[in-house]
Amino acid sequence: MRLDRMLANAGVGSRQEVKKLIRKGLVMVNEAIVTLADTSIDLDTDRVFVGDQEIVYEEYVYVLLHKPEGYLSATEDRHDKTVMELIEGYEHRDLHIVGRLDKDTTGFLLLTDDGQFTHHLTSPKHHIGKRYRVTLTTPFEPNDLEKITKPIAMDGELTLPSEAKILEDNVVLLTIYEGKHHQVKRMFERLGYEVTQLHREAIGAIELGSLPKGQFRPLTKDEVKKLKNVS
Ligand code: URA
Repeated sequence: MRLDRMLANAGVGSRQEVKKLIRKGLVMVNEAIVTLADTSIDLDTDRVFVGDQEIVYEEYVYVLLHKPEGYLSATEDRHDKTVMELIEGYEHRDLHIVGRLDKDTTGFLLLTDDGQFTHHLTSPKHHIGKRYRVTLTTPFEPNDLEKITKPIAMDGELTLPSEAKILEDNVVLLTIYEGKHHQVKRMFERLGYEVTQLHREAIGAIELGSLPKGQFRPLTKDEVKKLKNVS
């Protein structure tokens, strides 16, 4: 990869800014100062420094956000606050959202610039569970447990079977394997329930855990691997 592109993608500056840094002799590749922006870099073996700071290149980034209520799962919107306003330090990356949450839903939201990863995670074919904690206005009848897990017709096709567990009278843990529009709310509505709170706790084996509401963190390499390896 070209040196200027590598530095710009790593967030050092715009393409023009990094070209200036290179021309000024502020960039070193391995032990040598390099002044040509189109110098070719081997991402596996070359080490690149700006001043004395090593630049670690990441081809893709994966960010986990604890989405608060009141934010749209969108990259921009004219009227509402979007989840992008909560994420800092990734302005140079073209992040998109992996599996939107409704404005009033909270919890586990992933953002990435890796389109293949998004396709993998959102395709029902790969059977990656999305676990929701669902709070209802009325107690959930144990007799409905089997019904909520069975496929139902939605958007012209059958949903995949899901898994459910009653946590409290009116709180159910539901794991679904696809992400149709308002799917969880619609599944409960079909059985006559109204959802008052919806919170996504996990995707696949990755848990939101104790990440505070409104905060974000990069996924670890191990977490990315775990999500990619589900098939
Ligand atoms: N299902 C819903 O109904 N809403 C969400 O935000 C996510 C899943």
